[in-house]
Amino acid sequence: MTQSPKATSPYEQIIKGLDLQPHPEGGFYNEVYRSKGVIQGDSLGAKFQGERNFSTSIYFLLTSEVFSSFHRIVQDEIWHFYDGSPLALHIISPEGDYSQRIIGRAIDQGEVPQFVVPGGSWFGAMVIRETDFSLLGCTVAPGFDFRDFELATRSDLLLKFPLHSEIIRKLTRR
Ligand code: GUN
Repeated sequence: MTQSPKATSPYEQIIKGLDLQPHPEGGFYNEVYRSKGVIQGDSLGAKFQGERNFSTSIYFLLTSEVFSSFHRIVQDEIWHFYDGSPLALHIISPEGDYSQRIIGRAIDQGEVPQFVVPGGSWFGAMVIRETDFSLLGCTVAPGFDFRDFELATRSDLLLKFPLHSEIIRKLTRR
């Protein structure tokens, strides 16, 4: 008797097919583009230390069980929707204003397929549908560098933004 191959979920196939790796904020990613061109640190302004590639782009996948916890980067980040469930992006500006945006294809329901998170804002994300995944792209310029990435702690964000405690508790792990 031949053994049937073990069933894999659609997102497991995507993780394998695109060679996605775990990301520190939660979810899975793989860098698809890193420009060969480099900008020198003294042309980037005081927020960046050292040189950076012109631009980078990643695939990013979240599942219903795995959210992206609140983090921030220095530069703007452009999110592109590709497949699966719509995704809720939760954003707290440096001034403490909270906003939410649904990234998806149902434009008639107010979803947007592309969205820019302003640099310096804290943001996290959640797959909207149960037992599903969201596959997106994230593009930044200057290119991504973990020196520009900061993962929030729950206590620090609660102290900074007590009005938004509910979403902070939902979208932090430590
Ligand atoms: N490369 C590694 N992590 C990230 C990320 O969170 N965003 C982008 N745009 N690129 C990355």
